[in-house]
Amino acid sequence: MKRIFSGIQPTGNVTLGNYLGAIKNWVALQNEASCDCIFCVVDQHAITVQKNIGALKRSTQETAACLISAGIDPVNSILFNQSQVEEHMKLAWVLGCLTRVGWLNRMIQFKDKANQDKDNASAGLWWYPVMMAADILAYKGTHVPVGDDQKQHIELARDIARSYNFAFGVEFFPLPQAQILSKSFRIMSLCDGKKKMSKSDSSDMSRINITDNADTIAHKIKKAKTDSYSLPSETGGLVGRAEAQNLITIYAALSNKSVEVALLEYGGCGFGRLKRDLAELAIEVIRPIRMEVHRLMSDIKYIDNVLKKGSARASALSKPIVKEVYDTIGFLST
Ligand code: TYM
Repeated sequence: MKRIFSGIQPTGNVTLGNYLGAIKNWVALQNEASCDCIFCVVDQHAITVQKNIGALKRSTQETAACLISAGIDPVNSILFNQSQVEEHMKLAWVLGCLTRVGWLNRMIQFKDKANQDKDNASAGLWWYPVMMAADILAYKGTHVPVGDDQKQHIELARDIARSYNFAFGVEFFPLPQAQILSKSFRIMSLCDGKKKMSKSDSSDMSRINITDNADTIAHKIKKAKTDSYSLPSETGGLVGRAEAQNLITIYAALSNKSVEVALLEYGGCGFGRLKRDLAELAIEVIRPIRMEVHRLMSDIKYIDNVLKKGSARASALSKPIVKEVYDTIGFLST
């Protein structure tokens, strides 16, 4: 049985990048009989950058609402918010003591997010990948469906799991595997095809949010950066054309086609037709999700109740695992 674990930060709007790179995959996995799924709104991770403090409760509820609206079934899967299950933090301390400083210093995301000013970034931001390993290992997660940007963190989680098993001469933690959807591995900004589409980008025009209405989506796609050439018919023609690559990737992911097939449709055309079709498709996919988010957000008690039940189930799974770690380490339990 695969044990799937994945998480999302409640740092603002859930984007089309989150949906195509991760959430769509979570929904598919939860419907596979051989998978046992745990999905977490990682609110503790969200405070590694100060700007999220203040709006956190509402963002946590809205992120949970987006997941449910996109198809996560909180009965079939476990859906909860990280801060309510103390096992994550308890395990993170132990794992942090097995993690080398050099490993954390190599994390690309820390370098990106610290924005060249590492000394002023929070220690939490630097230590974040240890917590992420604890999130997964507290449940002995075996498979981690994520976007391509998280690959290095999952590799680190494997190193940490290996390090624990080796230190104590046990085969306790499985080595978790990243599960990355090849079709939509990385959705890029609409303003700069070399930058990831991100909830935290200062420009709202750079992303499509799951809560955007039809006019906003159409406007953002119309204004998306392009180049002045027509679209190629083969993938080789996308090299060095980040924006063309991105728009066709989004189109392909939304229409469940390969980029190759999408290019057969649009090769030789200008961006106008692709943008028109893409806007129509994005609106069609996002509309029902957005409407459901609105409905759920007017019933906050329901969301809170889902997260409460999810936290209780997550605690029940992780408690015995973390207890065994504490016993193995030799922490005296009085
Ligand atoms: P976060 O909140 O940045 O993103 C949530 C998920 O969405 C994927 N994603 C993307 N995929 C494709 N294109 C994009 N532009 C894009 N933007 C985001 C991410 O890869 C991710 O899968 N560190 C994680 C949260 C986390 C976690 C975990 C994940 C905490 N603990 C344990 C897995 C397991 C993060 O910041 O995701």
